Amino acid sequence: MSNRIDFLEKRINEELEKVLVNEEPRSLFEPPVYVFSLGGKRVRPLLTLMAADLFEKDINIAINPALAVEIFHNFSLLHDDLMDKADLRRGSETVHKKWSANTAILSGDAMVIESYKYISKAPHKYLPELLEVFSDTAMDICIGQQLDMDFEQRMDVTEDEYLKMIRLKTAVLIGCSLKLGAIVSDASVKDLEALYQFGINLGMAFQLKDDLLDVYGDFKSFGKKPGADILSNKKTYLLIKALKSSEGKQKAELYKWLTAEEFDHEQKIFAVKKIYDELKLRVLVENLIEKYYLASLEFLSSIRISDALKNDLLDFSEQLTHRVK
Ligand code: IPE
Ligand code: IPE
Ligand code: MG
Ligand code: MG
Ligand code: MG
Repeated sequence: MSNRIDFLEKRINEELEKVLVNEEPRSLFEPPVYVFSLGGKRVRPLLTLMAADLFEKDINIAINPALAVEIFHNFSLLHDDLMDKADLRRGSETVHKKWSANTAILSGDAMVIESYKYISKAPHKYLPELLEVFSDTAMDICIGQQLDMDFEQRMDVTEDEYLKMIRLKTAVLIGCSLKLGAIVSDASVKDLEALYQFGINLGMAFQLKDDLLDVYGDFKSFGKKPGADILSNKKTYLLIKALKSSEGKQKAELYKWLTAEEFDHEQKIFAVKKIYDELKLRVLVENLIEKYYLASLEFLSSIRISDALKNDLLDFSEQLTHRVK
């Protein structure tokens, strides 16, 4: 990672360490402090600050929106882990496990409110636009999360439905992070849109990679329980393709695991993964990730700014697309 990205990450962490640390009651505010302290890649706030760098602005103008997107993202993880019944996140216990479901709900709500407080710290002239983009994104994420949950119960989810769902639950926040940084940098409407589309495509690649790591990742680096998507019948690209292209015995085997009410967790993961391997689905997802990654680069190159200024964004998106965590 470039020195500049390291510097931006340090700056984000320094500021994030101050968020909600002294608020009472601690039973409400300890969970966000805990989840921030576990790290994470800080993808979204880095993108906000990198957008300010791209337009050669002082990053201090973008620090509050950057914190807002990271606080919001961490809120979404508290609720997502409760909804997905996930026990581990960033290599540690999730909030609903360490405390309770009620804690994950209310501390999560408090984090959303806190994220809006950070947005509202921006200079007044930017506020209407920042609030509109942020709120539209937040609503899209709710819609995406609901689709993700609804799809668990369905066997006929199409590839297009899946792509729409991941755009809503994940890609829009990546796009929004960049856009907020660009808004406070006085970017032109055309550049805002190009940067947003860069983020959307990068976000699609990002979620596809997350789905892949859920099956093929290494727990030590990924920090989440492997195979969790398989256990809950998440309609990932892998599963949708497997449902579509399996036949005969293989299809029957897949349906058996998807409809089983009681099963050994490791056995189900092993069996479904075996079907993915037989159908060679991993390379299919990798190709789709590459397609979105390349599309994202097209949007970045359409912005008329020197390549030198784009270097950090280029490096970062390359590493994100090919990451192991
Ligand atoms: C996890 O996001 C949720 C998804 C959208 C896949 P990240 O992979 O960015 O999680 P952290 O912040 O690095 O832990
Ligand atoms: C992430 O989807 C979407 C949001 C958190 C809004 P996942 O459910 O795949 O995220 P992980 O894998 O738990 O991080
Ligand atoms: Mg989840
Ligand atoms: Mg989820
Ligand atoms: Mg996931």
